[in-house]
Amino acid sequence: MVESNLPFYHNPVMLKECLEGLNLKANGTYADCTLGGGGHSYAIANKLNSEGTLHAFDRDQDAVAFATKRLAGVKPKFIVHPVRFGELKNEIAPDTLDGILYDLGISSHQVDASERGFTFVGNNPLDLRMDRREGVSAQEWLRTVSADDLAAALRKNADMDRAFKLSTRLVEMAAAVSGEGRDILPSDMKAVVESVFPDKKREVNGLLARVFQAIRMEVNGELKEIEDSLRAAVDCLKVGGRLVVMSYHSVEDRCVKETAAEFEKACICPEHMPVCMCGGNHQRLKKVNRKPILPSDEEIANNSRARSAKLRVYERV
Ligand SMILES: C[S@@+](CC[C@H](N)C(=O)[O-])C[C@H]1O[C@@H](n2cnc3c(N)ncnc32)[C@H](O)[C@@H]1O
Repeated sequence: MVESNLPFYHNPVMLKECLEGLNLKANGTYADCTLGGGGHSYAIANKLNSEGTLHAFDRDQDAVAFATKRLAGVKPKFIVHPVRFGELKNEIAPDTLDGILYDLGISSHQVDASERGFTFVGNNPLDLRMDRREGVSAQEWLRTVSADDLAAALRKNADMDRAFKLSTRLVEMAAAVSGEGRDILPSDMKAVVESVFPDKKREVNGLLARVFQAIRMEVNGELKEIEDSLRAAVDCLKVGGRLVVMSYHSVEDRCVKETAAEFEKACICPEHMPVCMCGGNHQRLKKVNRKPILPSDEEIANNSRARSAKLRVYERV
């Protein structure tokens, strides 16, 4: 299959490891829940024959448009679901999939296209929504959120220190900017971060990235999406099917690990029960690798975005 000549969108991370984790069968049915630029999907499609099926999800219309072009003419049946992967259970029938892939987080395109408002490079107004047709933008959210709720989001989504001081100043800044009748810009956010962390001048960009991450995760409801979708994924997989999930930071990874752990237990009795009363036959997932798979040094050298990736592979039992 010859890939059409498209501009750069995203470099797929741990591609070989993801394909191995999925344990692909040429005539199988798979779902890529995070289509993005279609890097993983394209490689999966290349391993399937005309009896195979690939479902692909993305809530970002840029991703859907780009990857649909990229995958035009692939051999398997290619079905795009331009919706949140939290909708998985409404889109895919139970016990039908041989494998599901999640490559969580955002694509390089979302960050690089500065007009999308994901980046603090270029000083475009903040937005941070993957799907600009729904929900509230980071702009609107910051103008209405309380300092308490913002502090909770900074702690939960990015393990931020000094969360309350930071949230109080961000809320004050958002009100002041509103008063000036203009948009909140990355430079406004940076000034707040610098004022709260005057002792961490060298780390400002890293801290700012974590503030952006926390707000992005909130406006896109990312943790709830992961939880809902992984639970549905367990139902959609056939016995023996694979669940392959790649995360990029500790909060995301914890969410994956803890959600999957619910399905790894054979006994679901409350902890205080002295003996098992549930039958002890509730296990629905088992780990394929005891520890998460990490990218090679070579991959990190070629693609710095891979450096924080962790890949977890489970099998439906
Ligand atoms: C890291 S990128 C995937 C890149 C892709 N694997 C590739 O090789 O090009 C993550 C993608 O998942 C999408 N995404 C994140 N959360 C989503 C959700 N809850 N529902 C649907 N798509 C989501 C983002 O819009 C983004 O395009």
